[in-house]
Amino acid sequence: MRNDFKEILFTEEEILAKVKEMAAKISEDYSDGNLVVVGVLKGSVVFTSDLLKYITVPCVLDFMAVSSYGLSSESSGIVKIIKDLDYDIEGKDLLIVEDIVDTGTTLKYLLEYLKARKAKSVEIASLLNKPARRKAEIDIKYLGFNVPDEFIVGYGIDYAEGYRNAPYIGVLKEEIYK
Ligand code: IMP
Ligand code: MG
Repeated sequence: MRNDFKEILFTEEEILAKVKEMAAKISEDYSDGNLVVVGVLKGSVVFTSDLLKYITVPCVLDFMAVSSYGLSSESSGIVKIIKDLDYDIEGKDLLIVEDIVDTGTTLKYLLEYLKARKAKSVEIASLLNKPARRKAEIDIKYLGFNVPDEFIVGYGIDYAEGYRNAPYIGVLKEEIYK
């Protein structure tokens, strides 16, 4: 698997240190204890579970599944809800947990959708941000790292469902997806 990576951007240790830092900030900001952590399946599963372990305030966990990519490496721009929330979120403080914000299409759609369901607040925690390709303006309150405009995989983030199990994050070799 390591051979399919052109470059490693963040090691397991670097990611964990960043996740702990983000969880500390989140715990400070949500001391009221009305927090619903919403992981966006499947890419943010590894990040969500690590982040959750270091959030020290009471919270509940929910998941949504959306699809915008299909099996290709280019966003279709179309967002489809595949799995909705299990809980009623009216009056709750929502924290959407994403793996990577690219064009922003997915999050723009999710933000509007969740606000319309009368959440008290909706904020975003994203491990990665790829600003080069942004189309929709998105305010990421808790951000891990900025990444270059390349195809990133590992730590939950996939290419055609593969590489999610890599404990590090890196750039996939072009010959793998071209
Ligand atoms: P956006 O709607 O264009 O912001 O894309 C958001 C989703 O596309 C992310 O949550 C990822 O699942 C996926 N994505 C964006 N960039 C990459 C990448 O470099 N590698 C793998 N998946 C990506
Ligand atoms: Mg995602």
